Amino acid sequence: MTAVRLDGKLFAATLRARISDQVSHLRDAHGLTPGLAVVLVGEDPASQVYVRAKGKQTVEVGMASFEHKLAAETSEADLLALIARLNADPKVHGILVQLPLPAHLNSDLVINSIDPAKDVDGFHISNVGLLGTGQKAMVPCTPLGCLMMLRDHHGSLSGMEAVVVGRSNIVGKPMAQLLLGESCTVTIAHSRTRDLAETCRRADILVAAVGRPEMIPGDWVKPGATVIDVGINRIAAGEKTRLVGDVDYESAAQVAGAITPVPGGVGPMTIACLLANTLTACCRAHGLPEPEGLTV
Ligand code: GUN
Repeated sequence: MTAVRLDGKLFAATLRARISDQVSHLRDAHGLTPGLAVVLVGEDPASQVYVRAKGKQTVEVGMASFEHKLAAETSEADLLALIARLNADPKVHGILVQLPLPAHLNSDLVINSIDPAKDVDGFHISNVGLLGTGQKAMVPCTPLGCLMMLRDHHGSLSGMEAVVVGRSNIVGKPMAQLLLGESCTVTIAHSRTRDLAETCRRADILVAAVGRPEMIPGDWVKPGATVIDVGINRIAAGEKTRLVGDVDYESAAQVAGAITPVPGGVGPMTIACLLANTLTACCRAHGLPEPEGLTV
């Protein structure tokens, strides 16, 4: 069997086009422009690349982008004061503090100081609780993107056996909550799972989010399963480097029914879902109906 390739790049472009249409409608019908503030503390090169991409795509869909670049030695008090200003700013509908933060800053404290209604990352403890109890939340962008692709491919996921490998707060845990919300039978596996291979072989839906290059080989995949690879790992390839996922694509694609590639799978969906969350936050802030299909 050769798996269907789930094209996240195309899916994300389609989603952005829909968001762009909705942004035009908000402007024409209501005089509103959704605004996203991104806060970057320090000079981490990977974070700088992400923040630049976020700002660019925000502007491309017609939203307002507010970038706040702070020195690595910024004090917690100064960062909290900036977030308080953004919380109070009616032009800002979404706030994202790029992680990781420098070690002297308490990430939990900082994230929990964001107004939950503007927490477009879905990391605030209120949104985590709302998602966990099946209430309307801001949903973390990467798991939301994965779920959109799964729904698009399968329609209903009800009754399916889902295995999420990885238990991070950013991907693994919220992904499991979303799949539970879709009435899947969900297992969260991790580095201490006793027989990881056998656990993965049970999965109709296998989500890999561990950050270890190509650690899941094809013979851990159930024939016909859908494999969602969240990993983005840079490895040496001769003189150069290349990006690979947490799944060994070549062998897994021989067995799976459908699989996301790396790059071009889940990755492009994350920023598209950040824009979707910003649009959703703007509609909620103004009591307007939320466009369909942008959240769960
Ligand atoms: N760093 C890596 N991924 C993310 C993300 O999704 N949101 C934020 N805020 N920081 C990140």
